[in-house]
Amino acid sequence: MELTTPRLRLRMLEASEAELVAAFWIRNRAHHEPWVPKQPEEFFTADYWEKRLILYAADNAADTHVRRFVLEGDRVIGAVNLNNMVRGFFHSAHLGFSIDQAEQGRGKMHEALVAVIAHAFSKDGLHLHRIEANHQSHNVRSAALLERLGFERQGFAKEYLFINGAWRDHVMTALINREW
Ligand SMILES: CC(C)(COP(=O)(O)OP(=O)(O)OC[C@H]1O[C@@H](n2cnc3c(N)ncnc32)[C@H](O)[C@@H]1OP(=O)(O)O)[C@@H](O)C(=O)NCCC(=O)NCCS
Repeated sequence: MELTTPRLRLRMLEASEAELVAAFWIRNRAHHEPWVPKQPEEFFTADYWEKRLILYAADNAADTHVRRFVLEGDRVIGAVNLNNMVRGFFHSAHLGFSIDQAEQGRGKMHEALVAVIAHAFSKDGLHLHRIEANHQSHNVRSAALLERLGFERQGFAKEYLFINGAWRDHVMTALINREW
């Protein structure tokens, strides 16, 4: 499934497009370091992404993760993931997102997430009841974006994720689909 917004397209990429993905992560390596878990060295290579994109397709088919890249024209400028999708009595997933450092401050991740959330909550889409998103308290861009999207603070997770050399506390937020 491909989502489109006025400026962007959100889609899966083929293994043949691995170079585009590797270039995005290489360009933004330092930008991500304070906010997302450290990746192994091979993560920053096209070889790794050739294999990984095939696994992503299997995850998408299994209804456990939804992984999309954000494209503007032919450039990959971001990534959005709904991870750990649990059905049963939950219908819930964890949201992860990142935009190219050079594209911050232009509302592009907001635009992408409005489309992702509409798809995630729609009965014809993923029909989720809840999306959780957790961020470090000093990640002010992430906090502002989530608040603008209507996410509400639900708690505080101590020593939640190993990022940049230490276990980092996270603010836990969620958006609930009250039309479920
Ligand atoms: C978190 C992250 C995606 C936020 O990106 P962002 O560009 O600030 O987010 P938005 O898309 O909401 O853009 C908001 C900014 O665009 C501006 N903007 C411009 N046009 C806009 C529009 N049409 N609509 C909304 N905002 C617009 C807003 O005023 C705001 O600017 P400001 O931050 O200077 O006040 C980005 O900082 C990032 O990728 N960080 C690294 C990875 C990360 O932290 N991931 C999350 C881990 S929890």
